[in-house]
Amino acid sequence: MKDEYLKIKEQKQLAPNIFQVKLQGKSVREMTAPGQFVHVKIQPGIDPSLRRPLSIADVEAEKEELTLIYRTEGRGTKLLAGKVPGEEIKVFGPLGKGFPTDAVKPGDTCLLVGGGVGIPPLYYLGRQLAEKGAEIITILGFRKAEDIFLEEEFQQLGKVIITTEDGSRGVKGYVTDAINQLAASYDTYYTCGPNPMLRAVEETAKGPGFVSMEERMGCGIGACLACVCQLKDPDSTSGRKYRKICSDGPVFPAGEVLI
Ligand SMILES: Cc1cc2nc3c(=O)[nH]c(=O)nc-3n(C[C@H](O)[C@H](O)[C@H](O)COP(=O)(O)OP(=O)(O)OC[C@H]3O[C@@H](n4cnc5c(N)ncnc54)[C@H](O)[C@@H]3O)c2cc1C
Ligand code: FES
Repeated sequence: MKDEYLKIKEQKQLAPNIFQVKLQGKSVREMTAPGQFVHVKIQPGIDPSLRRPLSIADVEAEKEELTLIYRTEGRGTKLLAGKVPGEEIKVFGPLGKGFPTDAVKPGDTCLLVGGGVGIPPLYYLGRQLAEKGAEIITILGFRKAEDIFLEEEFQQLGKVIITTEDGSRGVKGYVTDAINQLAASYDTYYTCGPNPMLRAVEETAKGPGFVSMEERMGCGIGACLACVCQLKDPDSTSGRKYRKICSDGPVFPAGEVLI
């Protein structure tokens, strides 16, 4: 992992409050595992003082190009959206443990289930699974039609099902409604999104799966304990153990984290 100034090559808006930034620099060559994240220092100085964790949405290693996709939430991400090509931002990474893909064989079917800004890391994952010869089915959940992003990119990997809460596109309801309607079976599922969605996906999806967690972070490297989560542990008297999402995760086997 490196802390390097990466140059902004492109910044564009994909949907209301959703932006895609492409960054270039040598450390991008190390960003090989989907599901890992980077810790972004939005600008020099102490404001904002903390870095912002953002998932690796895609990597083009030969071009040393990293894609991040983010929602403008608070001060940090709003400042990031104002940055233009040619400017540099300091990016620390890759961090965390990503989605395991070793067990996937050619011909396996992988189900990707993403909601909101949980969708970006599934794209880099989907690209790697498709390269391994897996069949990809993606379910992408949004509030309404105008919020949809990355649909065409996922369509290049396989079948895509869109859900919207207001029914303005695709299946009306949540990603779990689409999982329930799936005619095809799948070998492994991978999911990333808000915690209520992850909980519902774990209850609905079948077979082995992996969930990627989001938590507020301080250091991003396991030193400050800001991001601790609880895991089930039948061997301990409390029935629980503690893990750090930044360094032990953000990806965990489905069913292990108390979400
Ligand atoms: C591993 C990981 C990957 C993520 N990947 C993405 C992504 O690809 N795209 C995306 O849009 N968002 C992602 N997030 C959420 C993103 O980090 C927050 O939306 C962002 O930090 C908000 O910063 P802000 O300055 O705009 O908001 P503010 O609310 O002003 O931030 C204040 C502080 O809270 C932290 N914070 C606020 N919301 C979150 C949150 N949901 N998760 C973690 N920290 C938070 C900030 O880092 C900052 O330290 C990810 C979070 C984690 C933990
Ligand atoms: S953010 Fe500091 S330990 Fe995870």
